[in-house]
Amino acid sequence: MSDMAQFIGMLESGPESSDDFQSYAQSLINQHISPENMRAAQSVATAYTELRRGRQSIVILEELLRDAESRSCENVYAARSVMIRQEKLAALGQLASGIAHELNNPIGFVAGNFEALRTYNISVWNYLEAIENAADEKMKQAIAALKSKYKINYIMDDTKDIFVESSEGFKRVTDIVNNLLAFARVDGGNFKLSDLNASVQTTVAIVSSQAKFVAAIELDFGDVPDFEFNPGEINQVLLNLLLNAVQAIKGQKSGEGLITVKTFTEDDMAVCSVTDNGPGITPEHVQRVFDPFFTTKPVGEGTGLGLNISYDVIVHRHRGFFDVESEPGRTVFTFRLPLSRGV
Ligand SMILES: Nc1ncnc2c1ncn2[C@@H]1O[C@H](COP(=O)(O)OP(=O)(O)OP(=O)(O)O)[C@@H](O)[C@H]1O
Ligand SMILES: [Mg+2]
Repeated sequence: MSDMAQFIGMLESGPESSDDFQSYAQSLINQHISPENMRAAQSVATAYTELRRGRQSIVILEELLRDAESRSCENVYAARSVMIRQEKLAALGQLASGIAHELNNPIGFVAGNFEALRTYNISVWNYLEAIENAADEKMKQAIAALKSKYKINYIMDDTKDIFVESSEGFKRVTDIVNNLLAFARVDGGNFKLSDLNASVQTTVAIVSSQAKFVAAIELDFGDVPDFEFNPGEINQVLLNLLLNAVQAIKGQKSGEGLITVKTFTEDDMAVCSVTDNGPGITPEHVQRVFDPFFTTKPVGEGTGLGLNISYDVIVHRHRGFFDVESEPGRTVFTFRLPLSRGV
């Protein structure tokens, strides 16, 4: 039995890899085990080999477990960031619509008062003109002298311009407020019969101040019937595509910026494409633009979630399609939404 005790001791200190261990055990048996102990030694060697194999499996399983844990942490982190960004957008939307509502009233009465002032002003001018016409020659001369002293003719001309410019200004402010209200309408994420071209129009109005001096925005609207979609979400997608285009063009030094938004229908789908003449996206980057946190923008300027959330909205929530094509000097993002939602 002493050869068996020695054999087990040597097995204990054998190699860790089960394949190496098997040949190691066999060579020990050949060298140290007497024929009567051969069967017992074979069984012991097999048991020890299995033990080695078991240990190796445990190491692999532990690695897999660690990997799965870290991946699920990443997923939780990604989901949390998406939620935070969406909540932030919703809060911004609420803030914008709150401010727009607050502005609506004062703008309404200031514009109304201004219009009254304009018509009163016309009556006053007419009244003064009538007095002037009714005056005798001496009085007319006195009126002419007063008019020149107080620069009345200049004031009358300038007043007309002031009224025209100011009512244009009121119209612009009213349009901005209406666009903000339309854009930020928080409707609890509802699908409803909506107008895709109107969504593009309001979103373009929201972006126009940032696009100014960077790119012209051209609209090429096709005849798209109203269909069921979630306008709040689609506005967010359009906003992100337009801002990405503006930001891409802004980053390049030369050339005239141009963004074209096109809508049309094709095979029971409403299609919308946003094309820009920015620098384009490299082939390695193009595959990653829809990945969460993929951004080439400096820290603080981009979270890299815009397109990821947009993809989710188009593909998962609306059962549509989202594509990107890019070459130097031209990038096109196209989304397609089903005109009928089916069941
Ligand atoms: N029109 C475009 N032209 C060139 N690159 C683009 C364009 N649109 C997107 N990209 C690239 O795709 C990346 C991801 O875009 P995405 O909108 O997801 O994130 P982001 O704009 O970087 O940050 P944010 O979360 O603020 O939107 C951008 O950082 C940019 O590198
Ligand atoms: Mg973006």
